[in-house]
Amino acid sequence: MEKLPRHIAFIMDGNGRWAKKRLLPRKAGHRQGVKALEKVVDACEKRGVEMVTFYAFSTENWARPQDEIDALFDMVAEFADTRLKEYVARGLRIMFIGDLTALPEKTRAACARIVDAAKDNKGMIVNIALNYGGRDEILRAVKIIVDSGVKEVDLDTLSDCMYTGGLPDPDVIVRSSGEKRLSNFMLWQAAYSEFVFLDELWPDFDEKTVDAVLLEYSKRDRRYGSVKRLN
Ligand code: IPE
Ligand code: IPE
Ligand code: MG
Repeated sequence: MEKLPRHIAFIMDGNGRWAKKRLLPRKAGHRQGVKALEKVVDACEKRGVEMVTFYAFSTENWARPQDEIDALFDMVAEFADTRLKEYVARGLRIMFIGDLTALPEKTRAACARIVDAAKDNKGMIVNIALNYGGRDEILRAVKIIVDSGVKEVDLDTLSDCMYTGGLPDPDVIVRSSGEKRLSNFMLWQAAYSEFVFLDELWPDFDEKTVDAVLLEYSKRDRRYGSVKRLN
């Protein structure tokens, strides 16, 4: 692979439609979505990607029916206690972005345990966005800066105050299920990201999808406002 992205971010969309097509409850779509995430993590790790981000719950997703929200956070807690534990054991770094204080206590505690267990790991970063909103993140960064009393603010100051401070911006943002929007995802970090929109529903994502994304990315010419091919 000529050009490998350092950081791939996935907007996991289409779980509900996947379930609907099968006359299953939306929950079943989310469950299958977790399996897809696992396949994507394995494929990205195998191919040498440094960081993967998954948009799992937005600040707007609180508008969903309460039973769906409850099921989602139960799944996150279960995922943390099982698969994430296994990721930690094989050296992956785990982080979460978003306001976790609003999450059910069980989920929050499970996430905190995992972050702590993974803190000395050196492998690929698996970053999960939970109760995450790009605008919230920017507002939070501004508040951090105001509270610190710093007067000289530049782009690096702001970047450092994002949840992803010190980490690479996503080279490519992938959205499944045919929707072509960011839905409040990584507004700051997406300044120069490449976008890949796929019709496939998230629960159908696997290793082959990852390879299709990598191939597509390798064909992109990232110019950053300049005229010549830089990489
Ligand atoms: C994405 O799938 C998962 C979350 C946003 C939590 P959706 O649940 O949005 O699936 P659709 O868009 O209804 O098909
Ligand atoms: C985006 O999906 C949020 C996540 C994937 C977590 P949504 O399904 O919530 O987005 P909209 O409502 O279609 O924009
Ligand atoms: Mg959706």
